[in-house]
Amino acid sequence: MDIPWWRDAVVYEIYVRSFADASGDGVGDLAGIRQRLPYLAELGVDAIWLTPFYTSPMADGGYDVADYRDVDPLFGTLADFDALVAEAHAHGLRVIVDVVPNHSSDAHAWFQQALRGERRDRYIFRDGDAPPNNWQSTFGGPAWTRLPDGQWYLHLFAPGQPDFDWRNREVHQEFLDVLRFWLDKGVDGFRIDVAMGLYKAEGLPDVPDQSFKAESPIWGRPEVHEVYREWRKLLDSYDGERMAVGEVWTDSAEDLALYVRPDELQQSFNFAWLQAPWSPTAFKQVIDDTLGAVPSATWVLSNHDVVRHRTRYETADPGTGLSRAKAALLMMLALPGSAYLYQGEELGLPEVKELPPEARQDPVFFQSGGELPGRDGCRVPLPWSGDAPPYGFSPPGVDPWLPQPALFRSMSVEAQAGDADSTLEFYRRALTRRRELRGAIPYNLEWLDSPGGALFFTRGELTCAINCGSGPVPLPPHHRVILSSGPLTGNLLPPDTAAWLHTE
Ligand code: BGC
Repeated sequence: MDIPWWRDAVVYEIYVRSFADASGDGVGDLAGIRQRLPYLAELGVDAIWLTPFYTSPMADGGYDVADYRDVDPLFGTLADFDALVAEAHAHGLRVIVDVVPNHSSDAHAWFQQALRGERRDRYIFRDGDAPPNNWQSTFGGPAWTRLPDGQWYLHLFAPGQPDFDWRNREVHQEFLDVLRFWLDKGVDGFRIDVAMGLYKAEGLPDVPDQSFKAESPIWGRPEVHEVYREWRKLLDSYDGERMAVGEVWTDSAEDLALYVRPDELQQSFNFAWLQAPWSPTAFKQVIDDTLGAVPSATWVLSNHDVVRHRTRYETADPGTGLSRAKAALLMMLALPGSAYLYQGEELGLPEVKELPPEARQDPVFFQSGGELPGRDGCRVPLPWSGDAPPYGFSPPGVDPWLPQPALFRSMSVEAQAGDADSTLEFYRRALTRRRELRGAIPYNLEWLDSPGGALFFTRGELTCAINCGSGPVPLPPHHRVILSSGPLTGNLLPPDTAAWLHTE
């Protein structure tokens, strides 16, 4: 049976502002990505996901879109995009773009019209002397801003990101048209931003708290699924297995499964995986819950919104974070389904915590009054080469939009390429082995008995073993070791290490 490409794809997230700057303005761009396509093809990923590169005032790094059908001059032109898609395809890489349907920028033509007092029905405006309800912005502070004429508008994120009113059919038509625009340009799929937020409960009732609960008046309203049924019909009307993956934060795999019903999205991000602590019980629980609930699993450890997993896994013992990050990657790549990687994890980059307040750009930092550091620490421009900033990210002498720490010098692509012990070469080996196993192993996994602290599972001829405990454990029976995330001691799997074993 033919398996659609996305079902076991490894997708590499490119945070466009921080990947590669060809124009020399300190901000990553489409031309920079084009130059680095050979690197991505060699790394061994199947697809790239590009974060928003559309026209935007950058109130939230481009997740505030002013024109959904154009490229911001900061990132290039539509011609650059066309060339990027053609070249990516020539390298065998699929292209997924971000679509941001929950809100636009306040600079969008529709919101500008609304500000002039016309056609406010495409957004969520209300009268009143006080904010219409108690909703808080995800970034901090109230979710309502008042205009000089007295009306309030809703923004679940920054004030520069007004929420659309999806009860207005015109919004549906507009987004179907936006999707068609990019599908006609040859994109292979979409990552749907804030996919569970588009509909708000009728009457906009107060919430007791802001958590992502099924009964929330904000998140996961039943009406949202109608949107994805419309989108699925559109995707299926194109050839080439076009797909969509939803950014869906839920409390349970059952809620997640609602988004991937046969007539809805092909995939949803599985954030339970990145939220799991370093614990075999927690990992096993997420794996069982996921495989039991969704027909086509996805896995992700890091993205542009969360603290990098190397840093999340750190302990007082230096080196633990990286060992665990590599072991977790090996386990993730052995699981059924597709895996999403985040740029820089293949270099083992940590979260950059020491950014000075004046360098910070994330609205989370500002809207929380500096209380929360925000997400800049995982968005620091990549180190490609050289001995000093900008480490090949920008042309020499250019300051990248966020400062890079000195430790990036030894972590650049140039510093790691060809060094068999480097994280980069480990990723290359793991992705190559995964490709070799593709098609040869069944989708389903079986658990094997494992000693305390460890997890062992098999998929046909592949056995994956991970040791999350504090002492070494014997490896399960095998013919040969395919790959390990760190050195093995004879037949023993050391702590914070994973191995792939050949069992037939
Ligand atoms: C994106 C964020 C963005 C937010 C608002 C998210 O979930 O991934 O980076 O700030 O949506 O668009």
